[in-house]
Amino acid sequence: MNTADAPSMSAYDRIGGAPAVTEAVERFYRRLLADDELSGFFTGTDLPQLKRHQVALISQVLDGPKAYGGRELAEAHRGMDISPGQYKAVGMHLTAVLEELEVPRDIIDSVEQVLTVVAPDIIEA
Ligand code: HEM
Repeated sequence: MNTADAPSMSAYDRIGGAPAVTEAVERFYRRLLADDELSGFFTGTDLPQLKRHQVALISQVLDGPKAYGGRELAEAHRGMDISPGQYKAVGMHLTAVLEELEVPRDIIDSVEQVLTVVAPDIIEA
């Protein structure tokens, strides 16, 4: 079935559900850790937990299961002094991963809208 043409399905189901989101999150953190401007933020973090929380959050944003049990985004990023440029760079890595995985454009657009909405919770510097 060409799920990209089934707007009645949730975005989560259209992109392939849990395996697709898990793959996207793996690739996302692979990119962040390979980016010298960003990797330092993740030193000493519990990466497996971070990935699990990110999978849950993205699933929820895409109208999949509502299982996010992490902190509020503002609380999770408080004190990190994340600049607008760093935020943009992280967003671009996420978008690039979604493009790599051939996520339909309308879904990428809605993820980018969410990134715009949550930016003030995460950017501090
Ligand atoms: C682009 C939008 C972003 C989203 C949706 C997002 C989402 C998340 C989530 C869900 C967590 C887990 C919170 C928890 O486990 O309680 C987290 C933690 C974290 N985020 Fe982000 N994040 C974003 C941007 C960024 C940026 C721009 C940076 C750094 C440049 C960053 C660095 C971190 C770090 C280092 C942690 C781990 C915090 C800790 O373990 O104490 N995030 N983020």
